[in-house]
Amino acid sequence: MKPPRKLHIKSYGCQMNVYDAQRMVDTLAGEGFVETDSAEDADLVILNTCHIREKASEKVYSELGRLRVAKDEAARNGREMRIAVAGCVAQAEGEEIIRRAPTVDVVVGPQSYHHLPQLLARAKSHGRALETEFPVEDKFGFLPPPKPAAIRARGISSFVTVQEGCDKFCTFCVVPYTRGAEVSRPVAKIIDDVMRLADNGVREITLIGQNVNAYHGEGPDGRTWPLGRLLTRLAEIPGIARLRYSTSHPRDVDDSLLEAHRDLPELMPFVHLPVQSGSDRILAAMNRKHTADDYRRVIDRFRASRQDIAFSSDFIVGFPGETEGEFAATLALVTQIGYAGAYSFKYSPRPGTPAADMRETVSAAEMDERLGRLQELIDSQQSAFNKAMIGKTVDVLFERAARNPGQIVGRTAYLQPAHVMASPDIIGKVLPVAIDSLERYSLLGELAGASARPTLSTLSPMTDSSQVNAGA
Ligand code: 5AD
Ligand code: SF4
Repeated sequence: MKPPRKLHIKSYGCQMNVYDAQRMVDTLAGEGFVETDSAEDADLVILNTCHIREKASEKVYSELGRLRVAKDEAARNGREMRIAVAGCVAQAEGEEIIRRAPTVDVVVGPQSYHHLPQLLARAKSHGRALETEFPVEDKFGFLPPPKPAAIRARGISSFVTVQEGCDKFCTFCVVPYTRGAEVSRPVAKIIDDVMRLADNGVREITLIGQNVNAYHGEGPDGRTWPLGRLLTRLAEIPGIARLRYSTSHPRDVDDSLLEAHRDLPELMPFVHLPVQSGSDRILAAMNRKHTADDYRRVIDRFRASRQDIAFSSDFIVGFPGETEGEFAATLALVTQIGYAGAYSFKYSPRPGTPAADMRETVSAAEMDERLGRLQELIDSQQSAFNKAMIGKTVDVLFERAARNPGQIVGRTAYLQPAHVMASPDIIGKVLPVAIDSLERYSLLGELAGASARPTLSTLSPMTDSSQVNAGA
C-alpha cells in the first residue's frame, strides 16, 4: 500500500476560511492525504489566505519565501513538496502570484476547492495550475459554489456554510470582489449536513456566510426561505442543542430572524452585528445603507424579542475623511449600545475598492490614538459583561478537556470559555454551572445542582483566542 501523503494547511482570517480548510482536507483525504502540523514534512502545503485587511499579500509572499527554502530542502532529500495558494489573496492576485512566486504550483480561488485534485494533477503534468474563475451565471443568477466533500464532524461545535459572497459593496470591503455575488445553499443540503454532523456527535452549529442573514435559499416546498425559517427547521434536528449564525448585516434583519430569537431556546442570544461607525456621514461614505439610528432600532427590536440578548460588532477607525467629531459619534454609539465584545480595526485601503481612491485624511498617529480609545471603551464593556457572570448559574456546552488536568472547558451562550473540574463524560452536554470567578477572559465555576462534583481550589491561568469574523 502507498504511504499516505502529508498535507499542511495554514489558514488566515475568517471562520469561512477555517471551514474551507476543513473541506479541503476532506476533499484531499480522498486522494490519500492526511493532515500534518508541520509544513516542513508536508508533501503539499496550502496557504489559505485572507485579503480583508492590510499587509495580507506581503504576509503571503514572506511565507512563500520561507516555504521555498523548505521545498528546496525537501528536493535535496529526494522528496517533492508542492505549494498551493488558496483563499481571497489567490482570488484577487492569482496571476501576480504565479508571476512573482515561481515556487507556487497551484493557485486556487474559493469557488474552486472541489477541483483541487484535478489542479494538482494539472500542476504535475503541466508544471503549474491556476483556477480563479467564478462559476458561470445561469438564468437564475449565479450558481451556488459546489462545496467539496461530505462534511465531517470535528468535535462538539461545527460551522456550516449557508451562503457565500456579498452584494452590499461597502466602499472599503474586498469581499464582493473576492467571494463574488451573494448565493445561498438550498435548505435540503444544509439539513443533510446538520443531520450528518448531529449523528456524529456535534451539538452546536454555527451557520456561516459573509452576509448570513441575507440568506434566501430554496426550501423543500419550492419557496425561498429566510434565515429565521431555516433556523427554526434546524432546531428540530435531534441532538442539536445550540444554533448560532455569523456574520449579519443590520439591513437584512427581518421578522423571521427576530421570531426565531423569540421562539427558539436553541438559538443563542448572542449576535455579531457589525456597524463599522457611529457617524451618519461616514456610514453613507462607506455605502452601508443604514444610519446610526437605523442600527439602534435594529438592536431594540432584537432586545424586544429576547431580553437576555447580547451583541458584538466590528468597527473601522480612520475611514477617509473621518473627523474627531465623527469618531466621537462612534464612541457615543458604543457607550449607548453596550457590547459584550467587539473587534476594531484601523482603516486600510484595499486595492480595487472605491474607498481606496478617496483621499486619506487621517494620519497613522491619529488612527492609532482613536483605535486605542475605542478599544479601551470596548474592553471595559467586555470586562463588565464578563464580571456580571460571577455569582450567576449559566448553561455551558462542554467541548473538551482543558489544559489543566481534570478540567473540562465549554462555552456559555455568549461564547465565554467556562472551566470546571469534572469527568470527561460531561463533554457534549449542556449543564448549569455556578460561576465563581473570572481569570482573564475565562469563567471558572462548579457544576450546579445534580450534576455537581467537587472542585479544586487552585487553578493556573488560562488564555483564550477569540473567534475572528469576516464580512457584513
Ligand atoms: N480596512 C479595515 N477594516 C476592514 N474590514 C473590512 N475591510 C476593511 C478595511 N478595508 C473590517 C470590517 C469588517 C471586518 C470583517 O473587517 O470591520 O466588518
Ligand atoms: Fe458585504 Fe460586509 Fe463587506 Fe459590506 S463589509 S461589502 S456587508 S462583506
